[in-house]
Amino acid sequence: MQQKVAPPSVDPLLELGVLLVRVTFRPFRVSDVDDFILWAGDEQVTRTIRWKTITSKEEALTFIKEVCIPHHFCRSICIDDRSIGFVLVIRWSGADRHKADIGYGVAAKHWGQGIATKAVKMVISEVFKDFPDLVRLQAFAVVENIASQRVLEKAGFTREGLLRKYTFLKGQLKDLVIYSLLSTDSNGAVDDMV
Ligand SMILES: CC(C)(COP(=O)(O)OP(=O)(O)OC[C@H]1O[C@@H](n2cnc3c(N)ncnc32)[C@H](O)[C@@H]1OP(=O)(O)O)[C@@H](O)C(=O)NCCC(=O)NCCS
Repeated sequence: MQQKVAPPSVDPLLELGVLLVRVTFRPFRVSDVDDFILWAGDEQVTRTIRWKTITSKEEALTFIKEVCIPHHFCRSICIDDRSIGFVLVIRWSGADRHKADIGYGVAAKHWGQGIATKAVKMVISEVFKDFPDLVRLQAFAVVENIASQRVLEKAGFTREGLLRKYTFLKGQLKDLVIYSLLSTDSNGAVDDMV
């Protein structure tokens, strides 16, 4: 009788490392529409962000064309060049143009694999280079959104405090946690942190 050979065990950390190498980010394209709807149409992803849940291919196309593509910094997070999420940086204007807000989301099936953290770190390296007068990158997370707060902490942001009953999100008045990263922070604007 032939002896059963155990399948080779794969180191989960190695597997995650291999996956993260395949993660990139780039501007959105109209051709992302079918991948886009898979996650932008999922309430698990849109519940904690301002984007409304996409319900049709037409809506997805319009959103990509009218919001994502013209935006000054809206990138698709990709695995093997296929869209699995987004990261967005919104610069303030006028006297407040030294600061910008960052937001992001990842398809639920890819949560917990370090993808958002990698995307945020990649953005940090890029935005402080692209916008040399940018001093402060800030992020807001609803207080229940522990995953997002963890992403910001892993990316080197500082938790500044709790903003009580700060904003309406999807019809509910929410407490938000505010985080920031300054270009002068030791972990701001460095290349080797990705
Ligand atoms: C927030 C979000 C982007 C995180 O994406 P992700 O790719 O899963 O993030 P990462 O894997 O890089 O890191 C998530 C971290 O949160 C941790 N985490 C997740 N849920 C958690 C919970 N309920 N309690 C404690 N930690 C939690 C994970 O363990 C991981 O930390 P670790 O590496 O120390 O273990 C994703 O959940 C998402 O798209 N949510 C919907 C959109 C959203 O909320 N965007 C942010 C708006 S501010």
